[in-house]
Amino acid sequence: MSFIASRLIHWHSDHGRHHLPWQRNRDPYAIWLSEIMLQQTQVNTVIPYYTRFMQTFPTVASLAQAPLDAILALWSGLGYYSRARNLHRTAQRIMQDHQGQFPTTREIIQQLPGIGRSTAAAIAVFSFGQREAILDGNVKRILTRYFGISGYPGETKVQSLLWEKAEESLPVDYSDGAIETYTQALMDLGATVCIRKTPRCEVCPLQSQCAAFQQQRVDQLPSAKPR
Ligand code: ADE
Repeated sequence: MSFIASRLIHWHSDHGRHHLPWQRNRDPYAIWLSEIMLQQTQVNTVIPYYTRFMQTFPTVASLAQAPLDAILALWSGLGYYSRARNLHRTAQRIMQDHQGQFPTTREIIQQLPGIGRSTAAAIAVFSFGQREAILDGNVKRILTRYFGISGYPGETKVQSLLWEKAEESLPVDYSDGAIETYTQALMDLGATVCIRKTPRCEVCPLQSQCAAFQQQRVDQLPSAKPR
């Protein structure tokens, strides 16, 4: 197993987050909703919205039938309202094109409105235990630092390299929940340790192999957008 995977999996048992409401089940509907809410909003803000949303619309069928106004009202305050419109469209698409069943592969999930590659991968990992790499803003920051990758991560070339690194770093054997733990650990490390300003390298499980740490470039990576 890669250094990064074994260290993160070990780290997660004591230092990761284990009691987030969407971690209680493997219902792809619940996981999808949580991942969409978490795309641009922090965990603590999301939690009450997520709970209310699941109470009001507990299934993809209930969401598909709801008037858009009711969904937007529940979303009120979360911002980025296109997310709510895409939720509605995706629920209807799942009812019409997928017999009400959430699709089970990353490739097909990714074709639904509002779901990019990384969000599709997170859903495939947490719902179905599939071996897929995520690459959201937090993970880009971890990987650019760990592998010492210069260049703006929004640039296509840098982005492709990061996807390669994200895939290479995945646990190889994922029969025992390793992929779920690893993926959650990456998210948690990015939220609590490998943060943008004043990262907590002194407690980071990846420190000894982190290129940016060794080269004292942690504060320079990820590189800023060129202007
Ligand atoms: N950010 C995006 N997805 C998340 C998840 N499943 N848990 C915590 N933070 C996240």
